[in-house]
Amino acid sequence: MLHRLLFRLDAERAHGVAAHALGLLGRLPVGARVDSVLAVEALGAVHRTPLGVAAGFDKNGTTFTGLGKLGFGHVEVGTVTLEGQPGNDRPRIFRHLRERALVNRMGFPNVGAAVVAGRLARRSGRTVIGANVSKRKAASLDEAPADCAAAARLLAPLADYLVVNVSSPNTPGLHELQQVARLRDVLVAVQAEAGKTPLLVKISPDLADDEIDAIADLARDLRLAGIVAVNTTIAHELEQGGLSGPPLAERALDVLARLRARVGDELVLVSVGGVADAYDVWDRIRAGATLVQVYTGFVYGGPLWPSRVNRALARLVREHGFDRIQDAVGTNVNALPERQTEAEVESCTPLRGW
Ligand code: FNR
Repeated sequence: MLHRLLFRLDAERAHGVAAHALGLLGRLPVGARVDSVLAVEALGAVHRTPLGVAAGFDKNGTTFTGLGKLGFGHVEVGTVTLEGQPGNDRPRIFRHLRERALVNRMGFPNVGAAVVAGRLARRSGRTVIGANVSKRKAASLDEAPADCAAAARLLAPLADYLVVNVSSPNTPGLHELQQVARLRDVLVAVQAEAGKTPLLVKISPDLADDEIDAIADLARDLRLAGIVAVNTTIAHELEQGGLSGPPLAERALDVLARLRARVGDELVLVSVGGVADAYDVWDRIRAGATLVQVYTGFVYGGPLWPSRVNRALARLVREHGFDRIQDAVGTNVNALPERQTEAEVESCTPLRGW
């Protein structure tokens, strides 16, 4: 009911009301039960379910406790920048109801790393928390490594994992950090601050396939913990900003399959983009994702959506004869990107034992 009313409000105001309700829920002694077949070990933590909340929903670390109580296993807080910044002018979130999609051009409004760090320091409960960091709008591309690293220094000791976001379309020039030479500098700088906290990189669906391969190779070379794929896409003709939701699903699965073919199980793959139900989560798991995130599907699905998805997902796990969802990770990697022929796969697989 509240959920329906929210759709009468401007999208960002509705988000504010939902966040307020989640803040209150976080203080109540209640919470969804999650079937134990869904438990996964990843990134040095036990997740009650592979299903988590993608970055951007809890930008400032105010709702992760409530989100955990709805049945999410992890919440990726952020994107957080070194200092607070206001983001772009409103309106900056747009609904496309027929497609159950969103377009946003938020531009990382957030309260800054020090304030978010204070909130993470006071956390309790079993929800796994990631901190997603990026550069401030005011920092140049050359300043990006130091800027991201300084934010990481504040957050890494308090988060279960850290993500460097170089893929949001709403900070001018940010995508250029996905070029391997620049990305290496950023990741090396952040890695020096991450300590033992697992580090991942979040990539765009708008990269060419060979750029995805190059980033996968870089992530492996640097011994990152994993890759989060994908962010929103600018490949659309709606208002300016990044598109999310079901129109992104096919490309997200494609990118996941490509990454899995490239890195196997050496990196933790976190799939995000267009997940709308338990079947989507299951497909991502079978294609090689250990964790699966959602933003837009949860906005349209409402507060009971994570519980519904967890229940249906547990059923799928059992129907397919698995005792634990973790055993199903990467068990259907046949969904290779169409462009990749058998011969190409062979030629990019290193000869083991030589
Ligand atoms: C996002 N997303 C996002 N990603 C990120 O790394 N940092 C951020 O600050 C944000 N902010 C943000 C705001 C809004 C309003 C939306 C809709 C999305 C991207 C998000 O984490 C995810 O990668 C995409 O939305 C694709 O997943 P869904 O929404 O299709 O499940």
